[in-house]
Amino acid sequence: NGKINIAIDGPAGAGKSTIARMVATRLGYIYVDTGAMYRAVTWHMLQLNIEPEHAENVLQEAQKLVIELIPDENGQKVLVNEIDVTSEIRTLAVNRIVSRYAQIEGVRSQLSTIQRQLATRKGVVMDGRDIGSHVLPDAELKIFMTATVQERARRRFAEMDASESITLEQLEQEIAQRDQLDEQREFSPLVCADDAIVLDTTKMGIEEVATRILELAHTVM
Ligand code: C5P
Repeated sequence: NGKINIAIDGPAGAGKSTIARMVATRLGYIYVDTGAMYRAVTWHMLQLNIEPEHAENVLQEAQKLVIELIPDENGQKVLVNEIDVTSEIRTLAVNRIVSRYAQIEGVRSQLSTIQRQLATRKGVVMDGRDIGSHVLPDAELKIFMTATVQERARRRFAEMDASESITLEQLEQEIAQRDQLDEQREFSPLVCADDAIVLDTTKMGIEEVATRILELAHTVM
């Protein structure tokens, strides 16, 4: 049917989700935010007070979860067992610990299976950390999106709620820490796939990045 899969990976705050959503909309494709799935698992474990050290318990509970990503006007709604957690999964509390739950092998294999199923019919733009390298190694287009940590922290800071008290410097430190955990974990770490195209967006505008990816997509369609 001429449809392709597009994998967009990279560190926190590089603009992956904004861009992935734009590209998906313009191609009439489905956008899959895999970070939201790890965040949803994390939110649920925080509710149950299950720490990431207790991998067995985490897995047992994770298997019972029904995570849904539902597109809407503002992007997407995230439901965990039918509870709307769209804003709850974006808090600093979740940011600070999500990478620890994401290190658990069983959690990763569970979510990877769901992610692969979502992409079997093609026409998907999926963003995350291990999509091109692990989840969809056959994706027709793989993008590795980066920007300096200073720029990524600035972008995240600008879109933050005033109720979340954190300084730009602290945020930069937390982002760097999360990148490090994601890069150094044992199972499917954050890595640039051999056949991915690197896009450094530090000095690029959103429109420019989206246009570039659409151009690349058309060359492989
Ligand atoms: O993309 P986002 O910042 O929402 O991802 C949150 C966290 O989820 C990441 O820092 C990472 O620990 C985890 N994640 C992952 N693999 C993915 C997507 C996200 O490990 N494919």
